Amino acid sequence: MSFGFSRAPRFRIPRGPPQLFLEVVFGVLLMRRLSFCIATCSLVAERVRRLLAEFGTLDRELKVERISVDALPGLLGICSELVLFPLVRPLSRLELEQLKGVAGFLHFCSHSFMVREHMVNITKLLKGVLPERFFKFIPRSFDIVGDIAILELNPEVWGFRDVIGEAILKVNRHVKAVFAKGGRVDGIYRVRRLVHVAGEKRTLTFHRENGCIFKVDVASAYFSPRLSGERVRVANQVKPGETVVDLFAGVGPFAILIAKRRGGIVHAIDINPYAFQLLEENIKLNKVSSLVHPYLGDCREVVNTHLRRLADHVIMNLPSLAYEFIDVACLALRESGGIIHYYQFGRGETACNDVVELFKSRLSESGVALVKILNVKRVRSTSPREWQVAVDALVAP
Ligand SMILES: C[S@@+](CC[C@H](N)C(=O)[O-])C[C@H]1O[C@@H](n2cnc3c(N)ncnc32)[C@H](O)[C@@H]1O
Repeated sequence: MSFGFSRAPRFRIPRGPPQLFLEVVFGVLLMRRLSFCIATCSLVAERVRRLLAEFGTLDRELKVERISVDALPGLLGICSELVLFPLVRPLSRLELEQLKGVAGFLHFCSHSFMVREHMVNITKLLKGVLPERFFKFIPRSFDIVGDIAILELNPEVWGFRDVIGEAILKVNRHVKAVFAKGGRVDGIYRVRRLVHVAGEKRTLTFHRENGCIFKVDVASAYFSPRLSGERVRVANQVKPGETVVDLFAGVGPFAILIAKRRGGIVHAIDINPYAFQLLEENIKLNKVSSLVHPYLGDCREVVNTHLRRLADHVIMNLPSLAYEFIDVACLALRESGGIIHYYQFGRGETACNDVVELFKSRLSESGVALVKILNVKRVRSTSPREWQVAVDALVAP
């Protein structure tokens, strides 16, 4: 493993006629940016990419690059091809430890990366409209739900949101409406205030994910496209014929995927009437009415009344407050026990540890034994140094 810095490999200008040469030189000035990065062997690159994305450290404005190991003399013999990941910030000690767990070889260096085409185009469109000193505040990435883009806007460019929104619409032709986050996800329904920025004034859309289709209203029910990989990870743990209780189902992305892919019976609960209405529609849209049973109400009451002791899995995706409902999850599980898929926010280096500790203490208060923690992982970063942490735990009464 190598953690030293090396000189950035030289970018070679392709050979061609003079005008192409000039275009390329001009393009390079506009489209390349030097960035600090981490290099790894191509064989383990996908695993490294996933972890960096989870940490929120990948610079999404720049393109990941593959280079021959010859470009970094001194590393010859490690592997034939390296993958370079641009980083937005240095990695913490804990993040580095996790990366070492999946990659035998890691090397830090700097490299001149291609800027992603959509960023180049947005920047071009904003030239002369947005003062250049604000260019660094143009959002590097944003969530896209169906045909709606949701931006996190730096307060410095709030006054320019309409021109930024128009540029995003022009560059992303499938996006029809642009909204800006107007606050944090909040309240019992876990929704956030959105401010219309450009395009159609509509918050209802259809979002495709993992072979399912979801009708979503981004203003009145929770939905995050960033959890798409996490839903697959949980769904893959459900065996055909098993029963699942999704305590905080929202518009149904976990429940419907599990029914569709794994053939599991899912009892899906939500307290938000708007989310419940969309959940019902999504069950029909995805043709899983025989497998997914929706309930409107507080999960504590619904489980007490209808869903005691029948689940092999309980999903608890309410990271702000799930610890308050661990006793409810235990009541829903079979007498013989089962798996709880638990989510909670955690801060700093000890995020995973803190989440597991609170989970364990609440579990023991419920009089239920922990058989084994099956997985603990940071699912995504929610703000600087804060993560949504996932815990899969096998428990028995
Ligand atoms: C973070 S969202 C997750 C939604 C969904 N699982 C997903 O991944 O998109 C949490 C959901 O829990 C619901 N909720 C909050 N408190 C609840 C309660 N006591 N009983 C049932 N649902 C609740 C909210 O309305 C919200 O839709």
